[in-house]
Order: sequence, then C-alpha cells, then structure tokens
Amino acid sequence: MREPGVTLVALPEPSGRTAWTFRHGGRSYAVFAVDGQLRVTDAACPHNGGPLAAGIVRDGAVTCPWHRFTFDLESGRCRNAASARFELRLYPVVRRDGKAFAELPAAMGLRRWSRFLRRPPALAGVARRRRGVPP
Ligand code: FES
Repeated sequence: MREPGVTLVALPEPSGRTAWTFRHGGRSYAVFAVDGQLRVTDAACPHNGGPLAAGIVRDGAVTCPWHRFTFDLESGRCRNAASARFELRLYPVVRRDGKAFAELPAAMGLRRWSRFLRRPPALAGVARRRRGVPP
C-alpha cells in the first residue's frame, strides 16, 4: 500500500539509454538503468544542483559532472568521505504488466506571486486595530 500523497507515475524508457530525465508535477527526475534495475532520483545533485543524468555511472554509483561527488544508486549515500552529509533521494520503482512506475510525491500546486501579493500582510489588521480602525 502506498503512502498518502504518493503518485504512481509511468516511467519513460527510451531504448538504448542508461540515464535520462523526465518531469512530473513541476519537478525533474533522473532515471538510471543499473544492472537491469531502474533507479529514480531527483535530477538535481543534492550538493549544488548539478545535472546527475549527465554524470558517469559506474559500480552502481553516479558521479556528478560538476564537482565529482559520487552517489550510491542503491542507498543514495555519498561515497566521498568529506561529503557524506549529501544524500540522494531515491524513489521506489515497481513493475506492473511489464511497465515500470515510480512512486513519486504528488504534484504540488504552483505558487503564484499574485496570491501572496493579494493577501494583506498579517500585521496590517493589528495595526488597524491599534489605530481604532474597525476590521
Ligand atoms: S553539484 Fe554535484 S557534486 Fe556539486
């Protein structure tokens, strides 16, 4: 049973590729084909946002092309001792009827600046009451 807020998303599987990206719910994800298994993670490196799908995959790990941090695609842990605090977020992959699906966070609504601008500041009401102006 899936957690609430998790969506099952069909994974694109371009033939002949071992790493690729796709977008879902306003976010980008990277997919790696490793030893016949698909690993799904955020497309941006947890260190500084490098394009992980453009990295080198070797021994079950991907090396980010920007600063060469290496992340294990099984555990998400960074293999560079000095950078152990960075960790890849991995998303489970399930197969149904021969197709691969990733369990991804449900799409979040887009934030629009106009919503924030229209909302009166939280303290505006307090200031008005202090001046004796009715709400
Ligand atoms: S951005 Fe990936 S290692 Fe720095």
